[in-house]
Amino acid sequence: MVLDLALSAGERVMGFIEPQTGENANPVTAEFTDGYAVLRGMDTLGDLESPRVAIAIGSNTLRRTSTGEAERFGGIPKALVHARAMVETSTAIAEGAQVCIGAIVSSGASIGRGALVNSGAIIEHDCVVGDFAHICPGAALAGNVTIGAGAMIGLGARIIQGVTIGAGATIGAGAVVLGDIEAGATAVGVPAVSRPD
Ligand SMILES: CC(C)(COP(=O)(O)OP(=O)(O)OC[C@H]1O[C@@H](n2cnc3c(N)ncnc32)[C@H](O)[C@@H]1OP(=O)(O)O)[C@@H](O)C(=O)NCCC(=O)NCCS
Repeated sequence: MVLDLALSAGERVMGFIEPQTGENANPVTAEFTDGYAVLRGMDTLGDLESPRVAIAIGSNTLRRTSTGEAERFGGIPKALVHARAMVETSTAIAEGAQVCIGAIVSSGASIGRGALVNSGAIIEHDCVVGDFAHICPGAALAGNVTIGAGAMIGLGARIIQGVTIGAGATIGAGAVVLGDIEAGATAVGVPAVSRPD
């Protein structure tokens, strides 16, 4: 998905990085590399001149950690907007953010560093999506919604206007959120209710 995103955004793809080596390695397989080179370890970035990186990780925590690691080796997180996403000009897309195919980002909205706006998600006017948050496919934020850093808004969830979702909160797939959700909470259902720990 991120390969398609990068190519569609006009980037020249040099290869994939397998972040971990050794016994904990999570191998990058040929299924994903589509014939591109596989570079071993983030430190490979140090051999390249001003390498721009896109972190292809859905987990907010791991995406943040990997972004930091890439930066330590000189990687520059690149904002990627799919050619078939619809993004109004009065928006702010921070470095390392990804806006996927079919997503809509409306006027005055801002997408934080390393945040992921997945396929077909709708970010309405003046929303603020925090750093390393993930708006899952088909989720919709009405106007003036604030999503805290590292929060995850599940598949197809709906958040009504003006609501604030706290940092690190999780909104379940299909939820309809009518009021603020506290940081770190998990809320599910219609209307969404925070689940006890
Ligand atoms: C909310 C969520 C994170 C909870 O995950 P979890 O902690 O593993 O929860 P469980 O599967 O153990 O379910 C716990 C309870 O919550 C209920 N529940 C879980 N997800 C729910 C949802 N989205 N809506 C309503 N109820 C839900 C379960 O039915 C279960 O109820 P029970 O205790 O009465 O049996 C997860 O179900 C979810 O919706 N994730 C979003 C996935 C997504 O959007 N992925 C897209 C990736 S791109």
